[in-house]
Amino acid sequence: MKSIPIILLGCGGVGRQLLHHIISCRSIHYKQGIVIKVVGVSDSRSLLVSDDIMLTGMEDEFLAAICHAKSAGSPLKSPLNLGHCRLFTEKEAVEKIVATASSLGGTTGLAVVDCSASAETIDVLKHVSSLGSCVILANKKPLTCAIEDFEKLAFHFRRIRFESTVGAGLPVIASVTRLISSGDPISRIVGSLSGTLGYVMSELEDGKAFSEIVRAAKSLGYTEPDPRDDLSGMDIARKGLILARLLGWRINLADIKIESLYPSEFGPDSMSTEDFLAKGLSHLDEKLKERVATASLKGNVLRYVCVIQDLRCNVGIQELPKDSALGRLRGSDNVVEIYSRCYEKSPLVIQGAGAGNDTTAAGVLADIIDLQDLFA
Ligand SMILES: NC(=O)c1ccc[n+]([C@@H]2O[C@H](COP(=O)([O-])OP(=O)(O)OC[C@H]3O[C@@H](n4cnc5c(N)ncnc54)[C@H](OP(=O)(O)O)[C@@H]3O)[C@@H](O)[C@H]2O)c1
Ligand SMILES: *[C@@H]1O[C@H](CO)[C@@H](O)[C@H](O)[C@H]1NC(C)=O
Repeated sequence: MKSIPIILLGCGGVGRQLLHHIISCRSIHYKQGIVIKVVGVSDSRSLLVSDDIMLTGMEDEFLAAICHAKSAGSPLKSPLNLGHCRLFTEKEAVEKIVATASSLGGTTGLAVVDCSASAETIDVLKHVSSLGSCVILANKKPLTCAIEDFEKLAFHFRRIRFESTVGAGLPVIASVTRLISSGDPISRIVGSLSGTLGYVMSELEDGKAFSEIVRAAKSLGYTEPDPRDDLSGMDIARKGLILARLLGWRINLADIKIESLYPSEFGPDSMSTEDFLAKGLSHLDEKLKERVATASLKGNVLRYVCVIQDLRCNVGIQELPKDSALGRLRGSDNVVEIYSRCYEKSPLVIQGAGAGNDTTAAGVLADIIDLQDLFA
């Protein structure tokens, strides 16, 4: 049997779903000759590590107990029955991860899986990567900080996977990577990469008011608790940056032009979420209604997309033909159109659910299995 030891950073919605997937896929993996051994799990405050990392990972019952405690809102260091594990905090936690990478690096190998939502994991990821470990991310932040940090991580291209950072489980990164490897030059990528904004923009076509749509989206649970986190475009800009960097462009988040759907005077510094929803939002209705009408006269629709073309990445509203893949989008799917020499007139289109703990965690698990040849 091939053993893949992993340390999981972050035990939120995605991290816990990953642990569930690992447990429920045991028999499928067994048939493929693979065992995933979870040797460590961390949250924002502490890290749990199995005593004997060389032999055993954590037991499935113990992993289930961790998930149970975390979903009940307890921190990892709450009085779990630690069994064959030890708890580390702060600097010791980082040292323990690095020590594990050093000792497993030369034998079985180690995968460090970042399912946190933190920008602070970048240093430990760079460190373990330089020691020969694999790095797998659902977390976009380490890939969207300074270009130098990105390059240090991506330099070990055979050992890093981050499919779930763009379009969750959809094979966006894999498709771009395949085109690059085949020497097919990519000239343009256009993506609707937010389920929330995909829904909002397609609903606008039916003549509904923007404010009504956003309020409805919030009550359907489609938005972040503060919908401005979706409407700012920042999350899409991070995804666009990852795609642009994948194309080899040395750009930073600050180089991306982002059109926010609300003006700064309605921002979180000036207005509460409640006031924004109740009063701010409806000020935006009229202008958007006009833009929808103008586009419609030309056979176009409005989409909130990231456009990657000519060494520039822009995020915001674009007019796109009604009969394109993006134009036909309804509801909360993600859609990405990739144009290259081979896909010049008719782009390569990837479409489907682009968020959710389940699909995101499944994408992470597939990334782990994809690296199996690097393990003993
Ligand atoms: N959910 C999706 O649909 C989706 C799709 C694509 C990508 N992603 C990305 O996947 C990541 C996880 O998403 P999520 O929804 O699971 O987030 P979440 O529920 O907020 O969970 C984040 C987890 O990370 C932990 N954490 C925070 N700082 C940490 C640190 N410095 N070191 C280790 N762990 C740390 C948190 O600890 P505490 O429990 O102590 O707070 C929490 O357990 C995010 O980066 C997100 O952008 C999510
Ligand atoms: C993801 O998991 C979190 C935490 O368990 C939960 O609050 C959220 O509703 C889940 N999201 C989806 C789309 O299932």
